[in-house]
Amino acid sequence: MKKETIKAEMMLDKEFVISEIDPRIYGSFIEQLGRAVYGGIYEPTHPTADENGFRQDVMNLVKQLEVPIIRYPGGNMVSAYNWEDGIGPKENRPRRLELAWSAIETNQVGTNEFIDWSKAVGAEAMMAVNLGTRGIDAARNLLEYCNHPGGTYWSELRREHGYEQPHKIKTWCLGNEMDGPWQIGQKTAHEYGRLAAETGKVMKLADPTIELVSCGSSGSGMPTFPEWEATTLEHTYEFVDYISLHQYYGNRDNDTANYLANTLDMDNFIKTVIATCDYIKAKKRSKKTINLSFDEWNVWFHSNDQDNELEPWSIAPPQLEDVYTFEDAILVGSMINTLLKHSDRIKIACMAQLVNVIAPIMTETGGGIWKQTIFYPYYYTSVYGRGTALNSIVKSPKYDSKDYTDVPYLDSSVVYNEEHEELVIFAVNRHLENTLKVDIDILSFGGLEIVEHVVLENDNVKATNTLHQQQVKPHSEGQSFIEDQKLIGILPKMSWNMIRLRKSN
Ligand code: AHR
Repeated sequence: MKKETIKAEMMLDKEFVISEIDPRIYGSFIEQLGRAVYGGIYEPTHPTADENGFRQDVMNLVKQLEVPIIRYPGGNMVSAYNWEDGIGPKENRPRRLELAWSAIETNQVGTNEFIDWSKAVGAEAMMAVNLGTRGIDAARNLLEYCNHPGGTYWSELRREHGYEQPHKIKTWCLGNEMDGPWQIGQKTAHEYGRLAAETGKVMKLADPTIELVSCGSSGSGMPTFPEWEATTLEHTYEFVDYISLHQYYGNRDNDTANYLANTLDMDNFIKTVIATCDYIKAKKRSKKTINLSFDEWNVWFHSNDQDNELEPWSIAPPQLEDVYTFEDAILVGSMINTLLKHSDRIKIACMAQLVNVIAPIMTETGGGIWKQTIFYPYYYTSVYGRGTALNSIVKSPKYDSKDYTDVPYLDSSVVYNEEHEELVIFAVNRHLENTLKVDIDILSFGGLEIVEHVVLENDNVKATNTLHQQQVKPHSEGQSFIEDQKLIGILPKMSWNMIRLRKSN
């Protein structure tokens, strides 16, 4: 195929405001699953372990990502979890069959350890309660244990365990993926709606300052989507603040052009959930708006086959250890763009997950640590994508793929950071062969200069990173320039880009 440069246009304006970005849109997720906790964040015998057994090499990379909020302890795992197993002296904690992932849970890490760790990495915890095998009582006790200052059974127990001050956990998930047949304690929409409403009601009686996330569908492909959202919200509307969305993609057909177009599905998913929330709002004549918590999103498919081969009932088995490719990183960059473009309604989002399990950070148990390909778009958007999300008017050439029509080659999001007077453009060129030249109108921002143009590109779409070789990493040699007060974005074939500008002197 002849290589050429294709052209697109963007018009930006300070006034084209979507929303202030809630920093929690850059959240993540640690489930008690595989080696996320044991051999991931916690490994007392590791050379870098601190006095609490946490790996400091992992903590340092998590801190680099500036993750604001981390969901815990599951995921599927939470639906059969007895939170009481994970508190008190470690030597007394029971070993349990962890039924969601067929492993042994030693409970050496539980609620208090997770809170200690999340504080150490500068993140807030987002706690899930078990609405699979348990319900209102266990949830209200856990909340009392965590958030009540003292003078009651559960709060005094926390103090006895060495935590004088309450953890003040603000955000709570009412169960996990309760529509899924794989979920322990799966429920119909009516069953879940009633249980979530009553649990939420009681939790807010115990602590009215908390915010609650109601379970949405486990993905846009679920047969009950979006009826599940409508029915459950009929019950929970008054008591909850957010509804969850979960979505994973995979390049199973090895069709890169089609794979990179999956954010069109993600966009449609988000719009449908917003429409459903607002339909129930209208039906209830409510003044309250339910926002979205996209609390599981990522690529997940590489490890599926190898996971089927694992023997059950071991401690911290290497489950869901996807090794990510360059093309996965490009899709992840687009997924973040999609979240930012909906930041008026998406207030929380969690990349699933954070360490070892479908994660941007990989470790060897007892050994080293490395950044997967997907680390990079997550890192740059989390660090530089803070402020106000802006709309842009985009004119881009398009293509058709197996599942999608009219896929724009240019996919982007735009953030204006007033405090630093910085304009940041995150842009993906989906074209597999051609450079994309984008004329960007930035007149309304006054004189700007380019601070850096970071590019993630690679000739091999299947290139991966390992402990010993970082084949996929960004460079700052992007070729964008300013000409006649216009920004000319030069986006190499199939690339993710961050163009950061600030007021020129
Ligand atoms: O993140 C891995 C799993 O994906 C979670 O446990 C579950 O909620 C989802 O199905």
